Amino acid sequence: MSSGRFITLEGSEGAGKSTAAVAIARWLKSRGVDLVVSREPGGTALGEQLRSLLLDPATGDLAAESELLMMFAARAQHIQQIIQPALDRGQWVLCDRFTDASFAYQGGGRGLQFERIAALEQWLHPTLQPDLTLLFDLPVEQGLQRAGKRNSPDRFEQEKLQFFTAVSDAYRQRMHQHPERIKQVDASQSVEQVLREAQQLLEPLL
Ligand code: TYD
Repeated sequence: MSSGRFITLEGSEGAGKSTAAVAIARWLKSRGVDLVVSREPGGTALGEQLRSLLLDPATGDLAAESELLMMFAARAQHIQQIIQPALDRGQWVLCDRFTDASFAYQGGGRGLQFERIAALEQWLHPTLQPDLTLLFDLPVEQGLQRAGKRNSPDRFEQEKLQFFTAVSDAYRQRMHQHPERIKQVDASQSVEQVLREAQQLLEPLL
């Protein structure tokens, strides 16, 4: 049995990550990959309930610590119930966001110490890391302009430019710390070009 691969997609708001996820999944399946597609926060019954709470503007301000722990509560369930079993079966997992998002949003955006997040990472998935992370990158203002076209912004989308600049900076910092795993995709290009760039990065794993 061929070994499963764990691929994650990351990026700040409006990077077109979700559109790219659909196209990447379709392409991987066309290449014969047995694929599980999921997302964070979410992917399990508990995770989706936590997601609703985390994204609902009616939830209001959360303590940054509560927000981080809810992300990891969802993640622990997701890893145990979905991600690890799929990888053990030899399937690939394509996940829209994972722990890098906690470093970027709760670390960079909310200002929590990276050491705190690293401690949770170390506790909850000491050995599991994505084989490849595609970081959809584009200038923050451009991303917000794109995201601004959506009707009802969620609790994160309501944040200000300063928050997303910090998120974006933290993502780049992660990429510099893990250059072998995290690869940048220029998200300012057309969907076709973005997909082509993603394919080139995924091809060696096939
Ligand atoms: P996502 O569905 O990817 O939103 P979008 O389509 O707007 O990119 O992710 C939901 C939100 O959750 C997003 O604003 C980022 C946030 N998030 C965190 O703050 N920390 C995390 O650990 C994860 C996984 C997501």
